[in-house]
Amino acid sequence: MGQSIKNLDNDTLLVAPSILAADFADLGADIRRVEKAGADIVHIDVMDGHFVPNISLGPPVVKSIRKVTNLPFDTHLMISEPRKYAESFAKAGSDHITFHLESEGDPKKTIDLIRSLGCTVGICLKPKTSAKLVLPFLELIDMVLVMTVEPGFGGQSFIADMMPKVREIRDAITAENRKTHLEVDGGVDADTVGEVFAAGANMMVAGTSVFRHPEGAEFAINALKRVAE
Ligand code: DX5
Ligand code: ZN
Repeated sequence: MGQSIKNLDNDTLLVAPSILAADFADLGADIRRVEKAGADIVHIDVMDGHFVPNISLGPPVVKSIRKVTNLPFDTHLMISEPRKYAESFAKAGSDHITFHLESEGDPKKTIDLIRSLGCTVGICLKPKTSAKLVLPFLELIDMVLVMTVEPGFGGQSFIADMMPKVREIRDAITAENRKTHLEVDGGVDADTVGEVFAAGANMMVAGTSVFRHPEGAEFAINALKRVAE
């Protein structure tokens, strides 16, 4: 296992590059490159071709890349049956597992299962899902992930309309005095990160804008972190 997101502050701006935008032919080297450039977390997008119209990667890939870094593995399950596969990802080296509130099964049972595997737990909301639906689970989870694109593909445009939802969840976290991380995923770059941070998110998933930045990953990560200064 790698490091736990529990050891990271929930009010510091953290950058989680999404390996969906990495060079899959040289994945280990690409992860080392973003770690050296200042990445705090590795975001791993798992798609099953059913919950979302795309297929990405599974546990064997997680197991392979576990050897190249100790950064926390933030596993974003965009799959219909998270309970069926959570154990395989935990065994492969996922430190954190986020499932979608819109996926199958009782969320409480999914949370309990993920926790029993020794992982921290997150719940993700698609753009059309209301913030109110996740608030009852705040006391049970370590992270809320708000999608700022429809899940399924990297490189899409940021949906700024999600900012009131981010603010509503951050206000609840603060009001309840919790350490819950608030992550945003989709279209985050140097132009959009300012409003995301201002709305109260602290974990920035960034695929295209980090792995494919023409000036390199260090330049990209510094540009994202600068808004918190
Ligand atoms: C979308 C994924 C995202 C995506 C982010 O389904 O969950 O993590 O890869 O990619 P960018 O930063 O390129 O929007
Ligand atoms: Zn993701």
